[in-house]
Amino acid sequence: MAKYFLNLLFPLLFILPKTFSTAEGDTFLKSINRNPLKPRISHFRFYGHIIFGGPNATVVNVVPPRVNVKKRSYGLVNMMDIPLTKTPKSGSKLLGRLQGIDGRAWHEKLVQLMAMNIVFFTKKYNGSTLTLLGRNPMSEEVREMPVVGGSGLFRFARGYLQASTYSVDFQTRDNVIEYIVHVFDY
Ligand SMILES: *[C@@H]1O[C@H](CO)[C@@H](O)[C@H](O)[C@H]1NC(C)=O
Ligand SMILES: *[C@@H]1O[C@H](CO)[C@@H](O)[C@H](O)[C@H]1NC(C)=O
Repeated sequence: MAKYFLNLLFPLLFILPKTFSTAEGDTFLKSINRNPLKPRISHFRFYGHIIFGGPNATVVNVVPPRVNVKKRSYGLVNMMDIPLTKTPKSGSKLLGRLQGIDGRAWHEKLVQLMAMNIVFFTKKYNGSTLTLLGRNPMSEEVREMPVVGGSGLFRFARGYLQASTYSVDFQTRDNVIEYIVHVFDY
């Protein structure tokens, strides 16, 4: 635990200088009186709706695979704009959207590089974002990706997201993903 807090504290020592004013009293950068030893932890659970075809597609292919080795589609790139809802039902309350890009990053296995933002729409979180950057081993039951930052209420956020498949339509391959997010912020 102590080691963890040290890890958190270390970068903040550089980001949040105690005082920052010049002789002229310029205030282009202010110190913020927050306690780096007391991060807040937030937990979220929501459901994403992956639709590949039709007018409401949420994942679209923008670059075809360069080489189709063992059907692993290495080089394929998708853009996504995925609605996130409170329950697995597509019509349930919209909490936010997961927007980003993924690319097939391994020629031997189904592995994606994911670069994504989650924007929230609800109450005090409206407009706040979390940014994720990670490796998605698609065939694993639980796929974990790091939360590397955030904006609004999630400034300085860090944490992780776990994605698991909730249901699959085997005709269309459309599916519902359950996302669980744990983040520290200040
Ligand atoms: C697309 O979404 C709209 C609005 O939610 C809905 O009315 C329509 O039925 C959907 N179309 C398809 C093909 O699912
Ligand atoms: C969220 O913010 C947008 C504009 O920034 C506004 O149009 C919308 O009504 C807000 N939604 C909620 C739930 O507060």
